[in-house]
Amino acid sequence: MKHLPFSLILLLQLLSLTQAHTHTDNHPKCTLPEDRGSTLQVIHAYSSCSPFNPKASWEETVAQMLAQDRARVLYLSSLVARKSVAPVAWGRRVIQSPSYIVRVKVGTPPQSFLMALDTSNDAAWLPCNGCLGCPGSTLFASEKSSSFEGVGCGTPQCNQVTNPICFQNLCTYNQTYGSSTIAAALSQDTIVLAQDPIPNFVFGCIQKATGSSVPPQGLLGLGRGPLSLLAQSQSLYQSTFSYCLPSFSSTNFTGSLRLGPVAQPKRIHFTPLLKNPRRPSLYYVNLIGIKVGRKTVDIPPSALAFDATTGAGTIIDSGTVYTRLVQPAYTAVRDEFRRRMGSANVTSLGGFDTCYTVPITIPTITFMFQDLNMTVTQDNFLLRSASTPTACLAMAAAPDNVNSVLNVIANMQQQNHRVLFDIPNSRIGISREPCS
Ligand SMILES: *[C@@H]1O[C@H](CO)[C@@H](O)[C@H](O)[C@H]1NC(C)=O
Ligand SMILES: *[C@@H]1O[C@H](CO)[C@@H](O)[C@H](O)[C@H]1NC(C)=O
Ligand SMILES: *[C@@H]1O[C@H](CO)[C@@H](O)[C@H](O)[C@H]1NC(C)=O
Ligand SMILES: *[C@@H]1O[C@H](CO)[C@@H](O)[C@H](O)[C@H]1NC(C)=O
Repeated sequence: MKHLPFSLILLLQLLSLTQAHTHTDNHPKCTLPEDRGSTLQVIHAYSSCSPFNPKASWEETVAQMLAQDRARVLYLSSLVARKSVAPVAWGRRVIQSPSYIVRVKVGTPPQSFLMALDTSNDAAWLPCNGCLGCPGSTLFASEKSSSFEGVGCGTPQCNQVTNPICFQNLCTYNQTYGSSTIAAALSQDTIVLAQDPIPNFVFGCIQKATGSSVPPQGLLGLGRGPLSLLAQSQSLYQSTFSYCLPSFSSTNFTGSLRLGPVAQPKRIHFTPLLKNPRRPSLYYVNLIGIKVGRKTVDIPPSALAFDATTGAGTIIDSGTVYTRLVQPAYTAVRDEFRRRMGSANVTSLGGFDTCYTVPITIPTITFMFQDLNMTVTQDNFLLRSASTPTACLAMAAAPDNVNSVLNVIANMQQQNHRVLFDIPNSRIGISREPCS
């Protein structure tokens, strides 16, 4: 049987890959300096300062990010469609969790966590001591914190959790996140963000987790719902924050998350923030067109229109890597891109279908939002191979096996921009700001 040794080799290769990608927290090559004031440093999960850096090749990293993105966009689509999509079995190789992390200190004395940022989620949770199935080895030891308390059943906070289950008079709940399910105990403790203590912050203490979407050291949701960080720090930060995300290709740099209205840019253009009452935590904006170079692409208006009933429209998301457009919008952008590239041979790479081995002559792409044009340069829309001269248009069509109606402006397109979420005034500001 000739094929046996080959399968065995393949299996061994797969196993060694699996090992390289598991979440045992590594020792990062650099240490993150202390955060000051109300500003937290933001690093990419694959940065050399991150213990989650998979140390994979460029091709593997890109393939992995694309697979994660697919799962995330399916998840976001399922949120707006209010139905679950088929569970996605990605296998353990795929670290399907948001890309950017910040340091948060929890408890008295403080224990430090690198929590994943997610602007499309309200929840905050941490893996806690004794957790079954949590992916990392850094767990919150609640018994060592003098300020820790469980949240009781029947409290106002417990009533805001969907389907709470009373267990020994404490509020517990189950929640899905991407392809994961978590079982958590609603808890409260002091957290410190940069130098700001937030006493009695309510979060989920994860006791059991399944699936591969749970970020190894917890999640910090920046959505707008009732139990969100924004709601719980209303008097301190007035539902205002901004971030600048560093490029994932410059692994040594940090961006920033600025909390509160004080240090925010004054000269910045805004577009109105739209609210889908069914999914209040998602940050919808009104995308009215896209330009490739100076040409406005012919996109059917229905592909971009906001519709609170169906969930259709465009969101700004920090957790998806590559912008996803619904099929007619993506096809129009891609076709114009290819037309501009003339007779050069188009190739594909991984999940990207518009790649070239010759220099790309398109200098900019513009997302035209209501009252705000966001013009991005090649660093924000070209994915360049580290080992070959190939560059790809770093966008894709929304997954086609669901009736997807959601466009997602993703983090690669936002890198090196300040994105300001001004919720009291219902608007999002965007301006270019190199932070990596
Ligand atoms: C919640 O999850 C736990 C642990 O997986 C499970 O035992 C329990 O039955 C779940 N409860 C509900 C209401 O789904
Ligand atoms: C990051 O820092 C390491 C160690 O200081 C250095 O070897 C590497 O060249 C740096 N990489 C970049 C992209 O600056
Ligand atoms: C495109 O590829 C074909 C087949 O490999 C080749 O013959 C042709 O010269 C290429 N065209 C350009 C413009 O590079
Ligand atoms: C955005 O660009 C379009 C097309 O170039 C232009 O018509 C429009 O006035 C611009 N909008 C803003 C707010 O600058």
